[in-house]
Amino acid sequence: MHVTVYSAQPYDRQYLEEVRAAHFAEAGIEWRFQAATLNAGTVALAQDSEAVCVFVNDVLDAGVLEALAREGVKAVVLRCAGYNNVDLDAAKRLGLFVARVPAYSPEAVAEHAMALIMTLNRKTHRAFNRVREGNFSLDGLLGSTLHGKTAGVVGAGRIGLVMARLLQGFGCRVLGYDPFPNPAFDTLGERVDLDTLLAQADIVSLHCPLTEDTYHLINAPALAKMKPGAMLVNTSRGALIDTQAVIEALKSRQLSALAIDVYEQESELFFHDHSAEIIDDDVFARLMTFPNVLVTGHQGFFTVEALREIAEVTCSNLVAYRQGESGPNRLT
Ligand code: NAI
Repeated sequence: MHVTVYSAQPYDRQYLEEVRAAHFAEAGIEWRFQAATLNAGTVALAQDSEAVCVFVNDVLDAGVLEALAREGVKAVVLRCAGYNNVDLDAAKRLGLFVARVPAYSPEAVAEHAMALIMTLNRKTHRAFNRVREGNFSLDGLLGSTLHGKTAGVVGAGRIGLVMARLLQGFGCRVLGYDPFPNPAFDTLGERVDLDTLLAQADIVSLHCPLTEDTYHLINAPALAKMKPGAMLVNTSRGALIDTQAVIEALKSRQLSALAIDVYEQESELFFHDHSAEIIDDDVFARLMTFPNVLVTGHQGFFTVEALREIAEVTCSNLVAYRQGESGPNRLT
């Protein structure tokens, strides 16, 4: 079975090849790695492939799915958990098998969110550069003790639960908002409504999926409800926050800090080296001017353990497709 792997980075090749050779040698999977992102202009790269393997910024709208089906593609396997980039109705209509990797390492993402909080709070990103220049002044590096602070987890699912446990370990009072509450959260924190969470939390960390309901969940009215001087952390999906409104909240000091691993327009920037180019995105460029903003390029998932798990589950999803199975990872 030929599988065109879109948005393939060197580490995708390494782990998909390794796992296939070690555990799926008999499955007949043949990877065709493509650095290109999947979109209407790159569908033809999937010619003669039975399946495509995609990641977070690949475009799988109705038009692209129809074009893939015309190329003979029958299965789409996602190397990620979020599937906001896939038109599932269109996929069902076209009879395409779609499966994802629901949980490769919730700890990886929650630990990264925690690292962002710790960095911004204690300003280690600034201390790193300062000490290298022989500047040992502490002026401007003042942080605050996390112990005793109130942290709000929006979306208490797999990652949110790990985040709540980590925050609890730091001695924070943990609040959680989730419209579909999981009783597992009750030993970690207090369930509250979103407005209460926004009003009381010193740190708000987003762990809900991007849906029609959560698009720009953190917009100007939501920011106005937040505790003045709170920190906002987004390691989930960029469009959960209205970036322009967040910039205004940073300028007015309503927000004391922002950490993002995801960005609404990230597909233009992330996962590629643009260091020798001019960045055209003025909103992103404005974010880069704040000393209290920390951006990482969608690396929350990026651990050895997670890459191995993604490769394992992706191969088993392809086997499930071949065998006509409907497993828990299937979306259509
Ligand atoms: P999950 O499905 O286990 O948990 C999501 C939770 O959000 C569920 O409990 C759900 O009830 C809740 N939720 C749904 N609508 C909500 C709303 N309107 N407000 C608040 N909560 C809501 O998903 P998991 O594995 O915890 O992942 C969460 C998100 O993290 C994914 O959807 C994905 O976008 C993102 N992610 C980011 C990664 C990164 O590298 N930065 C890697 C993996 C996932």
